[in-house]
Amino acid sequence: MGIQQQRQDTIAALVAPGKGILAADESSPTIAKRFAAIAVESTEANRREYRSLLFATPRLGDSISGVILFEETLGQNDDDGTPLPQRLVQQGIVPGIKVDKGKGPLANAPGDEITRGLDGLEKRLEGYLQQGARFAKWRCVYHIGGHNPGPLAVKANAEVLASYAAICQSLGMVPIVEPEVLIDGDHDLERCAQVSETVLHEVFHALHRHRVELETMILKPSMVTPGKDHPQAATAEQVAEHTLRVFRRVVPAAVPGINFLSGGQGPEEATVNLNAINQASHRPWTLSFSYGRALQEPALAAWGGHHDQREAAQQALLHRARMNALATTGEYRTTLEAR
Ligand code: 13P
Repeated sequence: MGIQQQRQDTIAALVAPGKGILAADESSPTIAKRFAAIAVESTEANRREYRSLLFATPRLGDSISGVILFEETLGQNDDDGTPLPQRLVQQGIVPGIKVDKGKGPLANAPGDEITRGLDGLEKRLEGYLQQGARFAKWRCVYHIGGHNPGPLAVKANAEVLASYAAICQSLGMVPIVEPEVLIDGDHDLERCAQVSETVLHEVFHALHRHRVELETMILKPSMVTPGKDHPQAATAEQVAEHTLRVFRRVVPAAVPGINFLSGGQGPEEATVNLNAINQASHRPWTLSFSYGRALQEPALAAWGGHHDQREAAQQALLHRARMNALATTGEYRTTLEAR
């Protein structure tokens, strides 16, 4: 199969109507933090057990089109010896892989960060493809506060996102381009809208310069919300209106799918906001989810590291996946939460 056909098949599977993506690609320090919250030690065996149970959830493929894995998980097996990526394929789910190497300070840009991992990326991707990954994810973050993010951070991160996306496509992989405007801070909705517009504008400029094919990529952005310390919370309708206003201005209609991250929103909050976005008019893209915390929090709590709570954890994951799947068509109602 040609490289372009490979990308086209993958994108068609990922943006399937009524489905979204599960981000299960927490790095080792991040999963340790999530496990610490439920008093579970982050050992290789515990990470394998937890992620195997998520992926074995019956009917997960009805509402999840793809799962983003961490490198370690790509090489792990289920209890019966099935490689975890293959377990996903059996569920009709496309396996993907987080490929950035994390963020760190950006020199000469106080308060801003840059994401690393371009060196040797091509070689790594070849290995991931052999292990079954069909798409990739790279996350850049932007802090709001004072003069942040500055123009240097906006340009430098756009450049690495576009370089990464071009390399993925050259090998037949679909890139998920994730510019996350962080929710931390006391800024208002309007400031988040301004920063998001500037960031996305620069990202699409860079994607154009690097000749990235927009039709076979996914954008994974944050929604436009006030900072989490802002005194006035926004309604779902305000979030939807501001998010879509920005996106209509800067995201070309050729991009097939926008899959939002949850970025610290609560599980139900992330569903309600996605639903409001999908109830608005003038949306040329499929607007779905690529949630980590908002899909996994209830499942993690239900599991709590107990082998006998496996099914309860799967039910909790399936419920959130289904609620969010409904939100992709604007058909979610809070009354459906009662189970
Ligand atoms: P959250 O939905 O928890 O923000 O995670 C999504 C993700 O993949 C961050 O890179």
